[in-house]
Amino acid sequence: MNSIINDIEIIKSETTKIHDVDFDNLAFGSVFSDHMLECNFKDGKWQAPKVVPYQAISLDPSAKIFHYGQSVFEGMKAYKDANEDVYLFRPLDNFNRLNISAKRLAIPELPENYFMDGLKALLEVDKEWIPKQDGSSLYIRPFIFASGNGFHASPANEYKFLICTAPSGSYFSGKVKVLIEQTYSRSANGGVGFAKAGGNYAGQFYPTQLAVEKGYQQVIWTDDTSHEYIEEAGAMNIFVRINDTLITAPTSDRILDGITRKSIVELAKAEGIDVEVRKLSVHEVVEAAKNGSLKEMFGAGTAAVISPISGFGYKDEDFELPELEETFASFLKKRITDIQTNKVEDPFGWRYKL
Ligand code: PLP
Ligand code: COI
Repeated sequence: MNSIINDIEIIKSETTKIHDVDFDNLAFGSVFSDHMLECNFKDGKWQAPKVVPYQAISLDPSAKIFHYGQSVFEGMKAYKDANEDVYLFRPLDNFNRLNISAKRLAIPELPENYFMDGLKALLEVDKEWIPKQDGSSLYIRPFIFASGNGFHASPANEYKFLICTAPSGSYFSGKVKVLIEQTYSRSANGGVGFAKAGGNYAGQFYPTQLAVEKGYQQVIWTDDTSHEYIEEAGAMNIFVRINDTLITAPTSDRILDGITRKSIVELAKAEGIDVEVRKLSVHEVVEAAKNGSLKEMFGAGTAAVISPISGFGYKDEDFELPELEETFASFLKKRITDIQTNKVEDPFGWRYKL
């Protein structure tokens, strides 16, 4: 990769908001660091990225993002170790997935050096914003959207690629109860479920609101044809432990190929845990809950890290998960976060030092 780091213009903010932030009590994604990366696609190519002060952007009301939802995004985190060295986790996987999503949404693909060098330049300027506190990190949101104008329902000819960052704590504040969805669908065969497209999330809001009204935090999506097979949750992939076997659904064009998910599969196997990547029916999970072999369920994702699920609803029944003293979720969460934050060796080569 040809480095462009020295060609990235840096326009520094004259003020900082960092002193207003309580780093010991961070919510998720609600305060933003002083700078952002901005890169525009016009005249058929991506223009040089710049680091600029975090600021509002001005768009024409006819910009296609508003009408046709042509947008894709990523979610990553930067961590600091005890020496204040900074690490990312498998960042090239995020870069590759951004382009996989972009291609599906007819958005021009981004060169690797624009993403990686742009991100490095931004993190260098906003290094102080990366929390040192255990359990906190700098959440990184790269995204691309159609900024070009016109009501014609066709791809825009101009786009913006931005990276904004937010010092963040946990995504969920309390216990996570999920509803296994039987009516609505998140994605369908041949659709955009595998892409991190903005519209995939908008489409989940209404069914999730209905679930929240019933006391659940997230929906577990099932396949759109039969609603018989578990796919993933709104913001995380799902793992189920039946007896001592960890099971997760295979990826497909309906499921986001989560970087945490595939890391957990590899990590668990390396730790001698029996892992099965296979179709998992709701019937199997409900039966396991009834006969006591369902030991754990948890979500895995960048924002969610590993979030244990305390119970689930299915049709009109509620099922509680047992409260075990030692869980795969807490063991694997510690292993993965120790690797991310440079507390232990990384035999997989996932950690990326900045
Ligand atoms: N599934 C969905 C729908 C997501 O939004 C996310 C979050 O990015 C994940 C799964 C987990 O993916 P990753 O581990 O790459 O963050
Ligand atoms: C992430 O985990 O990074 C995501 O993008 C999930 C998001 C909906 C918060």
